[in-house]
Parts: sequence; structure tokens; C-alpha cells
Amino acid sequence: MTATEPRPDLDPRWADMNSVDRIMEVQEISDAERDEVIHVVEDNSDAIFTWNYEKGERARLNKLYEKAKTSQWNGETDLDWSIEVDPTQILTIEDPNENAWFRENPDSPLYKMNDEEYSRIAVEGVNWRLSQFMHGEQGALLCTAKIVETVPWIDAKYYAATQVVDEARHVEVFAKYLDTKLDGEYPINPHLKMLLDDIINDSRWDITYLGMQIMVEGLALAAFGFMHGLTEEPLLKKLLRYVMSDEARHVAFGVLSLQEVYESLSHNEIRERQEFAFEAALRMRDRFLQQEVWERLDVPVRPMVEHLLNQPDDQKEFQRLLFSKIVPNCKKLGLLDAGDGWLRDRFTDIGVIQFEDWADTSEEFLEFDAVNQDAEAAAKAAATN
Ligand SMILES: [Fe+2]
Ligand SMILES: [Fe+2]
Repeated sequence: MTATEPRPDLDPRWADMNSVDRIMEVQEISDAERDEVIHVVEDNSDAIFTWNYEKGERARLNKLYEKAKTSQWNGETDLDWSIEVDPTQILTIEDPNENAWFRENPDSPLYKMNDEEYSRIAVEGVNWRLSQFMHGEQGALLCTAKIVETVPWIDAKYYAATQVVDEARHVEVFAKYLDTKLDGEYPINPHLKMLLDDIINDSRWDITYLGMQIMVEGLALAAFGFMHGLTEEPLLKKLLRYVMSDEARHVAFGVLSLQEVYESLSHNEIRERQEFAFEAALRMRDRFLQQEVWERLDVPVRPMVEHLLNQPDDQKEFQRLLFSKIVPNCKKLGLLDAGDGWLRDRFTDIGVIQFEDWADTSEEFLEFDAVNQDAEAAAKAAATN
């Protein structure tokens, strides 16, 4: 079975998960939507007060809140914006297998593309990815403002308030990088937009957490890490390291909060969460087909999407790595094996189940602590001078 054939044994809602028609349909957004500056989403949640002000009732959330207070940074002054950036040199490492699949394969729309054209794809790819990071960060800003309102625990409200500031800073630094260092920002990808709309639209407060903190931010943490490893551009490298240091706390916040909630849900309620998580995973996978880049470069979009979907599994390292945080975090929440292990089967279908035993982010956020690590290193350097 090729990747683009539907699975006959799956619920009809998921059977066409690899259908090119479905993916292309989502991509067809109206011109009006393309030009909009303000986008309105209905938010169906209640705003919740709590009169229980007992700080530290949830000790691990309280610890995270204290950590957030001492890990703040300033996007204007902690990054060196005087660094000059050559967009063609941001991502220079090429994977020879991928090269062969795209440039030496007669079925590929990029067959025999010359070096200059291929380099343009890399440049547009960076513009596109950083643009989607920026839009996703705004999604996180709105979602965490919503969590402040909807979560019933004071420790979680406190923590979420620090995350609102973090997310504002992330939108700010990605927007500034795109504006001052690159040329040609992209609008939000329709798959990502649909997912963010669904998360904000949902009335259940734990779904904001599951959609944003676990799925979108889990993927973002892996994607930032991937790009951080591939670039030697010093400004972007530091920007990503600092953003990741915050994101690791954010995902930990999701895991610690939801663990408690999911222990008490019924079988049917858990199944709804499993399906929500899988649908979110598919939308995030589909957004990485970057149709907007092919459109801009006049590469035929549909054949390109088909070629990408049919790429051999052993080459899809980038897409798979993106799930390296999501799968262990879903496992930690009990979502992988709850019921009949429905989510385990679906993650197996899309080839990402092998990440289940990787570190979950409730434990590893301390390793990402860039602000305090840099402060300690600076203090050590000052002491030896
Ligand atoms: Fe963020
Ligand atoms: Fe975040």
C-alpha cells in the first residue's frame, strides 16, 4: 500500500488521512480570507474565578511558576540584532538521500533543478517555517490567555499568566527576525489555522491544554530543536535556544496539569481526547507539506504534495522527529494505551510510535534553561578574570 492509498479498515473519518484531495481541499482558502488582517474565532468557554488562593496546593505547578519568574529574558536586549544575516546561509546542510529523491528522481517536480533554483527553495522554506512559527506563537498567546480564564486552580492561573508574557515575547522575536533579516513572510498555513481555530473554539478547558500545550507546543519544541541543530546563523541559533527554554516549561505545564484531569475521565471522554490528539497530529503533519512555498515558486502543487507523501519512510526524518515530544507526552498522559490502545494504533499507522519511550517533557525542562545557564557561565567567566 502506498502512502496515498486510503486504509480500508479504519473509521471513515480517518480512512482518507493520506488523501491528496482532502489535503488540497483544506488548502483552498478564499481570497477574502487570504487578505484578512483581523481573524475572529468564537470562544465558547466560561471564565472561572476560584476563591481558593492556597498557593502551592499543586506543588509541581508552583515550582514551575517560580522557575518561570527567574527565567525571563528580553527579546530586544538579550539578542544581538546588529548581526547581519545572509538568508542563503541559514540552512546549508543537505541530506543526500533527500536530494536524490527530489532532484534525481524523474517523477519529482524538482527533477534536474539547478543549484540556484534549489537554493531558492531552501530560502523560501526558512521564510515559510519561521512565518508558521510566528503564527503558531500567536495561537499560543491567545490560548494561554484563555487558560488563565478557564483553569479552575490558582497555581495554574499563576503559571499560565507567566506563559502569556513568554508567548508575547516569542511572537515579537519571530516577527522582528522575519521583518528585519528575511524577505517574504508567509500567511498562516490553512492546516495550522484550522487547528488553532478548533482549539480556541472548544468549550472544554482541558482541550485548550491538549491542543496547545501538548500537541502544538510539543511539535514546536521539536521543530525549534531541529532547526537549532541545523543552523549556524548566530542570531537565529540564540533566538531558538531562548525560545526553546521557555517552550520546554510550557509543555511541562500541559503534562503536569492534564495528568491529574485525565485520571478521572470516563472511557468515552478519553476516547474523544485521543481522537482530538490524532486529528491535531494529522493537521500538523499536513502543514509541513508547505504548499504555499510550491505555489510561490511555480512548482506544480498537487504533484509535489503527492511526491512528498510518497517519500520513503526512512527519509522522513524531519517529520518524524517533530513527533518526538508529542508521542512520549501522550504516553505520560495515558492517552496512548487508554481504551483499546486506539491512539497507539494510529501513531503506528503514521510511523511515529518509536518515540514513545523518549524523554517526556515534564522531566526535561530544566535541561533547556538557557537564561540561567548563560548567567552562570557569565558569572564563572567574570570570577576567573
Ligand atoms: Fe512560544
Ligand atoms: Fe509556548
